[in-house]
Amino acid sequence: MVSESQLTLALSKGRILEETLPLLARVGIVPEEDPASSRRLILGTSRPSVRLIIVRPTDVPTYVLHGGADLGVTGKDILMEQSGSILYEPLDLRIGRCRLVLAGREGRGQAGAQPRVATKYVAATRAFFAARGQQVDVIKLYGSMELAPLVGLADWIVDLVDTGNTLRANGLVPLETLMEISARLVVNPASWKTKHASVRALVAALAEVVEAERGVQ
Ligand code: PRP
Repeated sequence: MVSESQLTLALSKGRILEETLPLLARVGIVPEEDPASSRRLILGTSRPSVRLIIVRPTDVPTYVLHGGADLGVTGKDILMEQSGSILYEPLDLRIGRCRLVLAGREGRGQAGAQPRVATKYVAATRAFFAARGQQVDVIKLYGSMELAPLVGLADWIVDLVDTGNTLRANGLVPLETLMEISARLVVNPASWKTKHASVRALVAALAEVVEAERGVQ
């Protein structure tokens, strides 16, 4: 029998975590402490060969790329912005689903010749407008993008929308969808080779759970 490799799995703190834990539980991986309340950053699991590290979503690709973790779970929005990386992305987990949208003030669809667009998603925004051949000034922000059009910092924003409540609460409306977003499983390319059997078994088990979920949706 081939022995199981030790695997470190980097999970994103926050919204995605709540949806990731039930998926892991269904493949027999349950953290020894609740990551939402524990202050520990490395957690053992019910499966002795698997441990979890809990990091910011934006840091997941870095940990996985540099071998601090063998696998990771993070949003497509984050992977898109770090497009230089060479992570394997074998599975769409179909959790953390939302949309990346262009939004603006209600009734103010028109902007000037070179609109200003505030966003955390600079690469995706540039790609979107470049594909349309439209010149824009992209203003990088790190959060609360909805504020920018309200105080005249920008004409439009590009941001994630889930329920639409944040846009509505700030008098903004979605104008266009840039893309559908969901959380992805990413794998360190070296781990994919050196821990092939264990990594592939985990990817396959998660893929089965995702497929079963799709069936009931
Ligand atoms: C995200 C996003 C929006 C909000 C959309 O922010 O940037 O502000 O959620 O959700 P809704 O459509 O359900 O209202 P998040 O709370 O993740 O914080 P952030 O600003 O730090 O990204």
